[in-house]
Amino acid sequence: MTHQDHEKNRTAWNEMVEIHFRHPDYKVKEFLQGASTLKSIELTELGEVKGKSLLHLMCQFGLDTLSWARLGAQVTGVDISDKSIAYAKMLAEQTGLEADFIRADILDLKGRIDNKFDIVYQSYGTLCWLSDLDKWAEVVAYYLRPGGVLHLIDFHPIAVPWEEKDVSYFKKGPYRYTNNVDYCDKDYIIKNELVEWQHKLSDIINAVIDAGLTVIHLNEFDKSCSPKERDWYEKDGYYYPPSGPPRYPLMFSLKAQKRNK
Ligand SMILES: C[S@@+](CC[C@H](N)C(=O)[O-])C[C@H]1O[C@@H](n2cnc3c(N)ncnc32)[C@H](O)[C@@H]1O
Repeated sequence: MTHQDHEKNRTAWNEMVEIHFRHPDYKVKEFLQGASTLKSIELTELGEVKGKSLLHLMCQFGLDTLSWARLGAQVTGVDISDKSIAYAKMLAEQTGLEADFIRADILDLKGRIDNKFDIVYQSYGTLCWLSDLDKWAEVVAYYLRPGGVLHLIDFHPIAVPWEEKDVSYFKKGPYRYTNNVDYCDKDYIIKNELVEWQHKLSDIINAVIDAGLTVIHLNEFDKSCSPKERDWYEKDGYYYPPSGPPRYPLMFSLKAQKRNK
C-alpha cells in the first residue's frame, strides 16, 4: 500500500539525488576509476562476502552495492527514488558489474524479489525515512535465508534529539521539514518537503528480535560518516570533532542473524 509520506520522500530524494550524484563527497569519479566506497566498519563487521548473495536496502545510486559486487557478492539494490535507481543501473553498465536494481518502497518489497539472501545490508542515514520499524524488520527477516545476517549501520538515535531541540528521543513523529539545506551541498535548499521519523534504540533492537533474528552485536561509535561542523577532521573516511570524543554516540551498528526456526 502506498504510504503518502514515503511518496513525499520519493519526490524529495529524486530532487536530492541530482545534487549528490555530481557532488565530490560521493566520489562517483573515483568509484568509476575502481575505488570502493565501503568504509571500515561494514567491511570489518561483515567480513568475507565473496560468493554470498547480498540485498542492499535504501541503496541510493548503488555505489556501495556495486562496491560489494567488486568484492564478489551477488548484489541486489533497492531504493524508493526513481532517479537513484536509474543512476545505479547506469553505473552497473559503465563498470560491467553484475547487479539487480529495483525501485520500491522497502516497506512494500515483499513479492518483488524471488530470492532469499545471505546478507541484508543497510547503511548511513536510512532508518529515519521509515514510518514503521516492525514492518521494516519483517521485510528484512522475509528476505534473509535461515542463518543469514542483517548488517545495519546508521546514525545513533540519540544524535538528532541531542542536536535538534524540537525532536524528542521519545516522540516518533512524523517530523516535517521544508527548506532544508542539503547535507552535501550546503548552498542547496531542498524545495520538496522531507518527512522523518525518530526511532529509539530499543525499538530498533526489539523490532529485529520480534521478527525472528538474534542480535550478534551492537556497537556505538564516536565518529560520523559526515562532518557535523566545518572544523571536524577526517580519518579513514570518518569524521571526528577536533576537541576530543563527542559527549554522545554519533553512530551505531547492529548485526543480527535470522534464527533457523
Ligand atoms: C542517506 S541515503 C542512504 C545512503 C546510502 N548508504 C548510500 O549508499 O548512498 C537514504 C536513501 O534512502 C532512500 N529511501 C528513503 N525512503 C525509502 C523507502 N521508504 N524505501 C526505499 N528507499 C528509501 C532514499 O531514496 C535514499 O537513497
